[in-house]
Amino acid sequence: MRKKIAAANWKMNGTLTEARQLAEALVHASFSLHDHQQVVICPPFVYLMMLREMFAQQPHWHIGAQNCFTEVSGAYTGEISAAMLASIGVEYVIIGHSERRQYFHETGDMLARKLDVALQHGLKPIFCCGEPLDVRQQEGQDAYVLQQLQDSVFHLSAEQLSRLVIAYEPVWAIGTGLNATPEQAQQMHAFIRSCLAEQYGAEIAQSLTILYGGSLKAANAAELFACPDVDGGLVGGASLKAAEFIQIVHALSA
Ligand code: PGA
Repeated sequence: MRKKIAAANWKMNGTLTEARQLAEALVHASFSLHDHQQVVICPPFVYLMMLREMFAQQPHWHIGAQNCFTEVSGAYTGEISAAMLASIGVEYVIIGHSERRQYFHETGDMLARKLDVALQHGLKPIFCCGEPLDVRQQEGQDAYVLQQLQDSVFHLSAEQLSRLVIAYEPVWAIGTGLNATPEQAQQMHAFIRSCLAEQYGAEIAQSLTILYGGSLKAANAAELFACPDVDGGLVGGASLKAAEFIQIVHALSA
């Protein structure tokens, strides 16, 4: 059975006290998650170790970073490597978020390299793809997302691909309050799966987890998660409110 994931991307939000309070509220909430269901919390780097310890006894909960650098070590002031993340017990890492692509000019080549180093160190990358508004308006989303996959993912072996999670995050839906409709999400997720099937075969494409992200919230999680090719979500703003995120996790496990 395909893994279903509710992932929280806290982005650059929260002081230490706020991060601890939010994590505590989640630790104390009760969930009945099945073996194929997981929650992944991706806080800012500085809270990773605290959260890993707070969630250590929660079997379905995992910790992820929001980024890693392309190199393993060296004179790269301010950067964090996949090796460092693995060494503190981080399991997941978000690669290629549209904010990284836009504000930090991360190219397809850089993201390919980041996927390589993350996989080399045993991390599970959550690879983000998705089209901006003007591309959607011209109905160019399929070609755009396929290009993103070709640029950064298709050099991986089938074995490496099997350790990836894909997140489809249309840029026009991120932080805008305007989510993709279930039909739009399903269509793109099925398209992504068909591209992967063509490249790697149907079996591996069917087994891959593809998350939806972009203004996902308690009010729309259930209908999006009900789509056959939507295997959960990557949640930004709504993951900063414990009650809201708890409902999203409940929608995943319903
Ligand atoms: P949002 O962000 O839920 O605030 O739209 C999602 C994301 O950027 O991963």
